[in-house]
Amino acid sequence: TMIWAILTPELSLHWDGARLSEGPGAPRTDAPGADPVEAAWRTDYASIFNPARLMVGAMLKEMPKKYWKNMPETALVRSLVAGAQTREAEMVERSRKSSAEGAPAVGDNLLTAWEAVRAEARACTRCPLYKCGTQTVFGEGPLDAKIMFVGEQPGDQEDLAGRPFVGPAGQLLDRALGEAGVDRGAAYVTNAVKHFKFERRGKRRIHQKPDGPEIMACRWWIEQERSLIRPPVVVALGATAARSIFERVVTIGSLRGRAHPLADGGEAWVTVHPSFLLRVRDDREAEYAKFVEDLRKIGERAKALA
Ligand code: URA
Repeated sequence: TMIWAILTPELSLHWDGARLSEGPGAPRTDAPGADPVEAAWRTDYASIFNPARLMVGAMLKEMPKKYWKNMPETALVRSLVAGAQTREAEMVERSRKSSAEGAPAVGDNLLTAWEAVRAEARACTRCPLYKCGTQTVFGEGPLDAKIMFVGEQPGDQEDLAGRPFVGPAGQLLDRALGEAGVDRGAAYVTNAVKHFKFERRGKRRIHQKPDGPEIMACRWWIEQERSLIRPPVVVALGATAARSIFERVVTIGSLRGRAHPLADGGEAWVTVHPSFLLRVRDDREAEYAKFVEDLRKIGERAKALA
């Protein structure tokens, strides 16, 4: 799902998300200097580095030194190894204190990692949509949420506010969640695509559907959100979200109303997008009732899994 290139002195290869093309050889200076994802990777590496299990010999065996110059995390190794003893002593002290106080020492690393990913996403250029919107609209909600709702992409109001589902579709979602007995505040809410795609008509910005490569490029971020939060239930609101979660084009009708197991052990549920309910002309009330019923079922399932 990444846009990439391989440069060698003889030949280059370029993948633009849809097509692979060949080009001439290139010098090292043609490669971009910085990888925007490296900072997040370094944060992640530093947070999973366990000083209490330091085994320099095994590390060197798995990562021979000759490869270190190409690996961003290796720049951290020296200081992590040097600080291992102090950090281990701090960990022991922290856990002694927290068990004495009865407080669970959870969440710090998760929050740090999530904030790092969100900060990286703000500078995302993985697809051309970053040129379009005002800002990246990242997901929000508790990091121990049992349900993750995934929409399509931020709309006009979300793009300006920098928060998902705050416009008309969000208000309808809130109302339906309330009627279904599902607490939005306890859920993590995000979008398959994190930038607003629109066409300008006069003063108005008219929503445009994201295309396949845009959805696939943005899967990088939703995968990060899912792997950090690990919600037992992921809800695709509409076809774009479902395409992102299942990595293929699907129809809502064929998947709606039941659980679909996911590789990470969670399950996906599929329902309509709330903006469909704002547009639909026939049987609007019946469609809305069906949506509320889907949410009620999903809420009960999440409770059972929790
Ligand atoms: N529609 C979406 O899919 N997401 C939002 O955040 C708002 C509208």
